[in-house]
Amino acid sequence: MAVRELVENSLDAAELAGILPDVYVRIVANDPSAETANQEPKAYRVTVADNGPGVDPHHVPRAFGKVFYGSKYVLRQSRGMFGMGGTMAILYGQITTNKPVKITTSTDGKSRHIFEMLIDISENKPIILRKDTEEGAEKTGTRVDVILEGDFTRAAQKINEYFKQTALVGSYANLTFVDPIGRITAYERATEAMPPPPKETLPHPYGIDVEALKRMIKITEEKSMEKFMGNKHFHRVGETNAKKFLSFAGIEAKIAPEKLSNEQIVKIVDALQRYPEFLPPDASCLSPVGESILTTGIIKELQPEFSTVVLRPPSSYSGFPFLVEVGLVYGGRALDPGRKLLRFANRIPLLYDESSDVSFKVLNEEIDWRRYHVPDDAPVAVITHICSTKIPYKTVGKEYIADRPEIESEIKNAVREALRRLSLFLSKKGSMEAVQRKMSIYSKYLPLMAQFSTELAGQKKEPRYQQLLKEEEAEVEEIKEEMADRSGNPDVVGENVIEQTTIEDYR
Ligand SMILES: Nc1ncnc2c1ncn2[C@@H]1O[C@H](COP(=O)(O)OP(=O)(O)OP(=O)(O)O)[C@@H](O)[C@H]1O
Ligand SMILES: [Mg+2]
Repeated sequence: MAVRELVENSLDAAELAGILPDVYVRIVANDPSAETANQEPKAYRVTVADNGPGVDPHHVPRAFGKVFYGSKYVLRQSRGMFGMGGTMAILYGQITTNKPVKITTSTDGKSRHIFEMLIDISENKPIILRKDTEEGAEKTGTRVDVILEGDFTRAAQKINEYFKQTALVGSYANLTFVDPIGRITAYERATEAMPPPPKETLPHPYGIDVEALKRMIKITEEKSMEKFMGNKHFHRVGETNAKKFLSFAGIEAKIAPEKLSNEQIVKIVDALQRYPEFLPPDASCLSPVGESILTTGIIKELQPEFSTVVLRPPSSYSGFPFLVEVGLVYGGRALDPGRKLLRFANRIPLLYDESSDVSFKVLNEEIDWRRYHVPDDAPVAVITHICSTKIPYKTVGKEYIADRPEIESEIKNAVREALRRLSLFLSKKGSMEAVQRKMSIYSKYLPLMAQFSTELAGQKKEPRYQQLLKEEEAEVEEIKEEMADRSGNPDVVGENVIEQTTIEDYR
């Protein structure tokens, strides 16, 4: 979890600044000479360094030494949500080893700010032990060094899986991981294209609860409810609709937001859910990985025989826009027999509790695989990626996604479309193999048959059977060409032609 939270922060920071991410991660025994060096668990130093924009030195103590401080409280599609992920990893280190965290950051690429801090747990505030500025930084970025107790032999598999899957959806990032025995795994950037950075958006009225409305009222400068409702507080609500809504809710248009009673606030929230004339949320704030970046990642990491990516049009649940993209991968060296599910939410790989997730439910309970002639032991991987300004995780652990009916149905539609494409590919592959089998039999027996029949008939000249073989060969070539349209791997059959349905088409 510590590795994941710190890497997530690095990727978020670089991507939001429009920088192609370079992230370096190293885990090493904190004291290799100690007597306990061969035991597990023990203290490890986890280092995560990035080439992001850096953190303003004034913000460092709060960002890394205070739980629930996040710069991401705006509504935006980012990995971080709560302002506690990185800080929790730091706190875990402090609790298990009592060692301070070290933050090194540069925002100008020249000077470097170094902090060593502990967190005062009872006060939820940072205790700064060291604060220095040095010249000589070569680039902007942030490095976090945290010492924590862990059992690497147990964690290794999940950590490796995390990097592999992150590289799959983040084919535009360079990820380097050095493990405690010094093995380096490098996931290299395969494309310079990055998904457009997600834009901030205003909350949609359907997504507002009592607490959220109270928070908005506390900070607004508007002096009347009609101005508050209709002026840049809510997504796609203008003045006319604001007035109509207030009369629907039975709230005076001129009343000042701060004068509202608790009952009135509850009444408004209730009416927000029922008012039928709000426009649906606009999804221009969402940033899916996209067909080309995802295909690049799939080819690089899985070298499949076939792959396809389906991007569904944006939709919404409870006022939050979301969008589903699904990748379907078949065959290749990296896939073992059997179906594999790889789940992502806002580009985070979800590695735990698979069976509680909505994607698992769709794949196992709602898709009739026999209809697509894909056997249970086929080497298939299904990649589901859900992007939203708010992912409906069932718990704070960011591990599995609730089965909201809207999301469920989008996943189902996307998987079905991908399966139709795979099934087409498989049937062509099947007929190609049948023709090839036929050909190999023909080419073995035809010359003999020709020879015997010539002898039997007492003729001198054999019939011209070569033409028959040529026709069969042409048939194979034709099927190969057709298959190339759907193949994800240009090495196997011809060029990789993918349908370019992009998010732009839906806007
Ligand atoms: N590598 C980094 N580069 C730049 N800013 C960072 C970096 N790491 C953390 N931050 C800043 O510190 C804040 C706190 O990070 P933290 O992981 O605790 O919360 P979060 O990412 O906002 O939400 P979540 O709890 O979902 O991770 C971030 O919002 C960000 O502003
Ligand atoms: Mg975070």
